[in-house]
Amino acid sequence: MSKHFSVNDFKKAKIDKRKISVLTAYDRFTARVVEDGGTDAILVGDSLGMTVLGYDDTLSVTMEDMVRHTRAVSRTAKNSFVIADMPFLSYQISVETALQNAGRLVVEGGCGAVKLEGGKEYCSQVKAIVSAGIPVMGHLGFTPQSINKFGGTFVSGKTEKSAVKLMEDALALQDAGVFSIVLECVPYELSKLISERLAVPTIGIGSGPDCDGQVLVIHDILGMNDSFSAKHFKTFAKIQGVATDAVKKYVEEVGAVSFPTNENSFIVEKEVLEGFKRGTYNWK
Ligand code: KIV
Repeated sequence: MSKHFSVNDFKKAKIDKRKISVLTAYDRFTARVVEDGGTDAILVGDSLGMTVLGYDDTLSVTMEDMVRHTRAVSRTAKNSFVIADMPFLSYQISVETALQNAGRLVVEGGCGAVKLEGGKEYCSQVKAIVSAGIPVMGHLGFTPQSINKFGGTFVSGKTEKSAVKLMEDALALQDAGVFSIVLECVPYELSKLISERLAVPTIGIGSGPDCDGQVLVIHDILGMNDSFSAKHFKTFAKIQGVATDAVKKYVEEVGAVSFPTNENSFIVEKEVLEGFKRGTYNWK
């Protein structure tokens, strides 16, 4: 159980060379299984746009969505360190709006830290949020909120220039005060070098085994989205198939009148029933 895991434990885990496990959660069920499964921290990712809200990307996710789902997770996973994603345009516009929105996620959502995407260009936002007492996790490499800028490319650091930019951004975020950095779809040799260079832990997704920890989307590890697969995750269960089979059985049993039986209902006293029948006898 991840009781009382905190930003200090992120640092300690890196020093002790103990890998940090993080998974996303968005609601009561996912928060329950992620906490009970013993992860170190929970990320309420803006991936909820795809996993829960049915969008094609994260761009339409709002602060209201993030606050509502962060609150659902914090309410359920009371012993976990909960990190909430800052959605698109909640921090990019100005330092003031970034600070206000980070504050909402803590005060209304009940999280212990926020995550935002991007490097040097958002260091002023990171500094202001950290100065206000809110821990910030960075996110580099493939950053889904910039999907239109990536233009179909997911892997970062494939040219020397972009590899250098990744390292510079990581160091800038560290100087700005982040407690850890997600590296998404960064080639594993680069993630290793970046992780070795940084004092704060890197949390990889599609970035190889040498990051200091790992984060994945809960729907991906549980097989809750059959229409999506990618090389960066592993499916540890096949929940969608199991759930669909259960629904088919339900439909069959309702059709065959084998469910429900009287056993699934309730009893009314005989006299009440008789009185009811007499009273309604002449109804048209
Ligand atoms: O939104 C999300 O779930 C994320 C992780 C995949 C890192 O940002």
